[in-house]
Amino acid sequence: MSKTTKPGAAKSAPAKKTSAKSAARNTDSGPAHLDAPGAGDALAEKMAQTGALAAAMPYNANKAREHGFANGVEPQPGATAEPASRVPLASTVSEQNGTEKTGSVAPEGVNATIEPLDRVRVDSAGQMLTTNQGVRIADNQNSLKFGVRGPALLEDFILREKITHFDHERIPERIVHARGSGAHGFFECYEPLTQYTKAAPFKEAGKITPVFVRFSTVQGERGSKDTARDVRGFAVKFYTDEGNWDLVGNNMPVFFIQDAMKFPDLVHAVKPEPHHQMPQAASAHDTFWDFVSLMPESTHMLMWVMSDRAIPRSYATMQGFGVHSFRLVNDAGESVFVKFHWTPKAGTHSLVWDEAVKISGADPDYHRRDLWERIESGAYPEYELGLQIFTEEQAAQFSFDILDATKIIPEELVPLVPVGRLVLNRNPDNFFAETEQVAFCTAHVVPGIDFSNDPLLAGRIHSYVDTQITRLGGPNFHEIPINAPVAQVHNNQRDGFHRQAIPRGRVAYEPNSLAGGCPFQAGAAQGFVSVPARLQATEEQAKVRAKPEKFADHYTQARLFYESQSPVEQTHIANAFRFELSKVTVPAIRERTVSMLRNASEQLARQVAMGLGMELPDPMPLALAEPAAPEVTRSPALSLLARPGDSPLPGRKVALLVGPGVEGESVAKVQAALLARGVVARLVGPRIGPMATLDGNTLEADASLENEPGFLFDGLVLPDGEEAVAALAQDGHTLEFIKDQFRHCKPILAIGAARGLLAKAGLPASMDKSQEQGGTGLFMVDADLLDEAVVAFIDALAKHRHFGREMDPPLL
Ligand code: HEM
Repeated sequence: MSKTTKPGAAKSAPAKKTSAKSAARNTDSGPAHLDAPGAGDALAEKMAQTGALAAAMPYNANKAREHGFANGVEPQPGATAEPASRVPLASTVSEQNGTEKTGSVAPEGVNATIEPLDRVRVDSAGQMLTTNQGVRIADNQNSLKFGVRGPALLEDFILREKITHFDHERIPERIVHARGSGAHGFFECYEPLTQYTKAAPFKEAGKITPVFVRFSTVQGERGSKDTARDVRGFAVKFYTDEGNWDLVGNNMPVFFIQDAMKFPDLVHAVKPEPHHQMPQAASAHDTFWDFVSLMPESTHMLMWVMSDRAIPRSYATMQGFGVHSFRLVNDAGESVFVKFHWTPKAGTHSLVWDEAVKISGADPDYHRRDLWERIESGAYPEYELGLQIFTEEQAAQFSFDILDATKIIPEELVPLVPVGRLVLNRNPDNFFAETEQVAFCTAHVVPGIDFSNDPLLAGRIHSYVDTQITRLGGPNFHEIPINAPVAQVHNNQRDGFHRQAIPRGRVAYEPNSLAGGCPFQAGAAQGFVSVPARLQATEEQAKVRAKPEKFADHYTQARLFYESQSPVEQTHIANAFRFELSKVTVPAIRERTVSMLRNASEQLARQVAMGLGMELPDPMPLALAEPAAPEVTRSPALSLLARPGDSPLPGRKVALLVGPGVEGESVAKVQAALLARGVVARLVGPRIGPMATLDGNTLEADASLENEPGFLFDGLVLPDGEEAVAALAQDGHTLEFIKDQFRHCKPILAIGAARGLLAKAGLPASMDKSQEQGGTGLFMVDADLLDEAVVAFIDALAKHRHFGREMDPPLL
């Protein structure tokens, strides 16, 4: 054979290279065969590497494993192939050409939309005013006109941009829970809970997970009062390192209804009536009571809503509950049931109704302000997370159904296990960007947390995201900074209104070979897998619209709640029913409600009927003639008094009433003692401003009797000084201030001459107890006994209320 080179062979390589380069410059067709990588210029190289990457996945190796039950419980990780470099995954080779705007090539495997909120914080200090396009605005006072007195010009893009943006500042408010306040904080795990759950926040002792919490009322509009009688939302977004987990709870552990099918009916009934749009943020009207009295399963929840739980003193002094039974799942895939409880460190403390009504006029932002001020002053609201953990076998034995959201599991039956603490230590920078735009959803769970079959929960899993698509203007609200997780987000969802992410590459589907299979499914070891086990039930095999039998016991736990309350709490429940039902205009609705109450408590039904001037109706027929005997008939843990708290004082407010000629030394002493315990002690005068003291100094009143009425304070101090007392006695506000403090059972300390103010306000002489007999929370002392009296007063303040002096109707 001749050793001469074949004709054309020497020439073919450059020719092939040229044609590869040429082919790589087309986006609509390609050659029959590709060169191996390493052949040519950037485009040819990209083409070659892309070919090699695709060829590395000759078929979908996972396909066969997608079938059958075994895959259902233990899905495999997706198939992937390693690219030779980052080149074939790029959208474009021109990504190398960076500018100040485009920046550089996307960092490998990173979604920058989840970076800490710093990336979107704006500080305008020292900056000039600009348009939204970054153009500096020379004049922000005048629109552009044809002549000084001439018509305004359409050309004025600065005015039009400003007005157009303003015109669209409002977004739809939440259909429920519209009124709310939020805060940032953290959750700290006490001990690893890996025996029960692989959920990220519970993996190690001391592990910190960032959270955002939103508290809310349910029925009122976004601008409605904070102190309405209502359920409070207690929604916690855990930004875990394995994705966002939202524990979207309430401050009551049960709900009105058992099935999501009834939620729109419930909300339509409680919202302002549709013909005249009244009353705002109140359940005391016909349609609410009409509905609930036809839904006897609501009786238990009604007890909670008519109790003082529905008028908390502060978001920091209320419990929170996940309500439904959820599941914990460990690494081995074993699962137990769980109920979530938040317990406030400041104790469970509430308002009284008369006080709540007055506060709603003087300070509709009462809870919002309280939360904000506590955090700004370092009195961080803190809650302990407790879990009730129980097995499927235990659940099957309970007298009630754990899938029924109108039932609790008494703590005496399944005790609370403390697992961590939640601390709220940072106020949002911007209410709208954070608190208004935050989007919670019960569907947001992470590996280690799963659902039960509660039919109310099932509806919620759908409802939240569905409503948020409208409220937040499209499907990309997960990219709004407050909603973005801290965990990586990689999927093939694309486009939609207001998309922020700029995905690199051309692959937006799975399976793929052109991106080496990425992003690939995580598989059971790292990804979320639903627990396959479900409560055993013969009906499981059929499609039905029905409820389990035990759901029909509507009264046993309503009775349990009522009978577990202290006498004062029971009275308040009766009074709340009396008030609400007195606002109903249709007597038959009242009768129906009282007939329902008779099945829960004869005593309560009688009291309510008497308060409404009506005959006791027959008890409502029972849906379940013989309910199972309850395990627990009294649960002390259900009383608000069961949790006075470890640190009830920080964040409390006390008024020191000062007038000209007040005895300044005692004012200073009391104020310092209160501040030392974290109590906010304010000087309230007939007007704000300087006030001469008896010893010739001046005090500065920072609040007035007019702008901070008595019911806004947790306690009252009336300092000595005859001249000041005489001046205050002339002011009707002072006497109202004292009367409200007395009526709302708050501690009052009167020093020296100030005792006369109490008499003038009409306080009975029989209430004149020294600090040794301080059970009434009234302390009337001479200045020489002040030190002991202050200690006793602070102690009384920590006890919150002194219901021993409460009377119905009130004495004052
Ligand atoms: C089937 C029953 C329920 C449905 C359909 C439902 C639906 C909704 C909807 C649509 C929102 C507004 C969400 C938004 O616009 O961002 C909402 C908010 C809320 N819901 Fe429910 N809900 C139900 C039951 C419950 C229950 C039982 C609880 C308590 C465990 C609860 C707690 C909350 C909370 C706390 C919020 C406010 C979240 C926030 O602060 O943004 N809901 N609910």
